[in-house]
Amino acid sequence: MDTHLTTSPDEAAQYVREGRLAAFPTETVYGLGADAFQPSAVQSIFTAKGRPADNPLIVHLFARSQLRQVAAAVPPVAETLLNRFAPGPLTLILPRAEAVPGIVTAGLGTVGVRFPVHDCARAFLRACDTPVAAPSANRSGRPSPTHWTAVQEDLGGRIACILKGGRTEAGVESTVLDCTASPPTVLRPGAVSVEQLRAAVGAVDVADASETDAARSPGTKHRHYAPAASVRLVQSPAAAEPGSDAAYIGLEAPARPEAFRRCRVADDVEAYARDLFHFFRACDRADCSFIYAQVVAGEGLGRALNDRLQRAAAR
Ligand code: TXA
Ligand code: MG
Repeated sequence: MDTHLTTSPDEAAQYVREGRLAAFPTETVYGLGADAFQPSAVQSIFTAKGRPADNPLIVHLFARSQLRQVAAAVPPVAETLLNRFAPGPLTLILPRAEAVPGIVTAGLGTVGVRFPVHDCARAFLRACDTPVAAPSANRSGRPSPTHWTAVQEDLGGRIACILKGGRTEAGVESTVLDCTASPPTVLRPGAVSVEQLRAAVGAVDVADASETDAARSPGTKHRHYAPAASVRLVQSPAAAEPGSDAAYIGLEAPARPEAFRRCRVADDVEAYARDLFHFFRACDRADCSFIYAQVVAGEGLGRALNDRLQRAAAR
């Protein structure tokens, strides 16, 4: 199939209305969208990505009035969080409305909803005029795409359309928060920090990835975000072994940056997170065998960054 490239949100939305797939930029990573109410379109997301059928999709909305189409109830804590963080990089797990096709939620009784804040995403969602089911627009297991060229690399020829935006701002995915649990529980750390959530609503639990009940957050059991090169986590750049097939990324510079095939020293955790997946893909194109990645302090955005690093390093 020919993948149509466009900068027009209206043109991309036309594909979704016709039951086809369009990738689109958001403030976190690029998404691969289908009309949530056309099950065969949603099915083609799983086919294009090679995604396991037991991993539910996030439904993307642009207006609060769309919530009742997909959620059976909005608990008070979710209401507070929507007022504070929507639109933005936060996904709320809510009781699912009957009308939502089972393929979207992998048969769960809940649904993930998110209101992107990115202008182009909002224009696209408005033009789609239907809730849009969308995972990250990468082949399953690969790093999430932070630029349209990464979408093309993974899904070119397999999807109908790519809506071209620039580099995504956050570079890590949304925070997934289960609002059907008490206290609300973070299932995936992301661009909204646990500290920000606690400041807004008080107690918030964080599911331990290794203990997360697979039925509750099916996505966490699958290997994720990994480049072809083998990722090795280091506390400091001194522990990274230079070499012509090695790469390094971190907050502190190694003694001899030129001794690595690729080297990226980020100014702060935000820049590190923004660049991580982009760097992974660049290392793969350069045929690196090893990527040394410095872990960071586990607070704020650092929690999400460390989570992605650990998943990428897990074999
Ligand atoms: O930033 C993001 O969240 C991006 C952009 C495109 O919005 N999307 C994204 O989607 O990262 P995906 O499919 O790659 O990751 C969604 C995560 C998965 O871990 C999935 O298991 C979880 O959210 N999830 C979705 N619906 C769920 C539900 N009803 N219950 C529990 N977890 C759910
Ligand atoms: Mg993903």
